[in-house]
Amino acid sequence: MEAFQDIQRRQVADPVVTAEGVAMAFGSNALFRDVSFSVARGEVFVILGGSGCGKSTLLKLLIGLYRPTAGKIGILGQPLMETEGAARRELLTRLGVMWQSGALFGSMTLLENVMLPLEAHTALPRAAREQVARVKLGLVGLSDAANRLPAEISGGMAKRAGIARAMALDPPLLFLDEPSAGLDPITSAGLDQLIKELARDLGTTFVVVTHELQSILAIGDRCIMLDKAARGMIAEGDPRALRDHATHPTVRAFFRREAPAA
Ligand SMILES: Nc1ncnc2c1ncn2[C@@H]1O[C@H](COP(=O)(O)OP(=O)(O)OP(=O)(O)O)[C@@H](O)[C@H]1O
Ligand SMILES: [Mg+2]
Repeated sequence: MEAFQDIQRRQVADPVVTAEGVAMAFGSNALFRDVSFSVARGEVFVILGGSGCGKSTLLKLLIGLYRPTAGKIGILGQPLMETEGAARRELLTRLGVMWQSGALFGSMTLLENVMLPLEAHTALPRAAREQVARVKLGLVGLSDAANRLPAEISGGMAKRAGIARAMALDPPLLFLDEPSAGLDPITSAGLDQLIKELARDLGTTFVVVTHELQSILAIGDRCIMLDKAARGMIAEGDPRALRDHATHPTVRAFFRREAPAA
């Protein structure tokens, strides 16, 4: 507990993401309320919880796609809801997002997919855009696949291409929705390694949604767990400490791979 409070104090100085009392509902479907946390620079922060509890929705709130029904969100030191117009567009170019589905454009090569954000948001000439995109593909180990179409690569490669595209503009903050879902354990471990290296070497901050216990323990500095029945957060902290000490039955069941008590 002491260690956790230390982390909380350290974070206050330089939070990259803050959520304060965030609530979200779609019509009468109240997903969660009172979601509060902050993410420090260079941290890998994991959002977990069962299917349908609102993890992807929380990511969409954090990148400004939806407005919360209550609460405040801060991104890179700016209040997300109050930042409008050109300042908002500028703020959003400093976030990278990899969607749950990958969302690559099927008619474009991987290189062209990674060049897209550069075309939209920079004045770089084509040769420079291509060079930057090649560097990003190299970072995720896809140099040799630059000219392939999404249909010509494996699921793991598509995930890595999605990360390369999310990194095109060198964002200090990256959001990944289930980066390792559907990948074999070795590919998934490779992706975890990549995330850890980027956080450590480039100081990139990651907010990652995942169900994969191995991944959470391998990459997560801290996590929160959302729960559909509780309509909110049921755990927050170091995933290894939660595995060893959590008392909430759902949290224990998740971290210890136990069937929840009836
Ligand atoms: N745009 C929307 N309009 C209405 N309801 C939505 C919308 N987006 C999500 N929902 C609902 O909100 C709930 C949470 O969805 P969300 O995609 O956030 O879950 P999740 O935790 O990411 O699940 P999974 O692990 O399956 O990806 C679901 O019941 C879903 O049907
Ligand atoms: Mg989801």
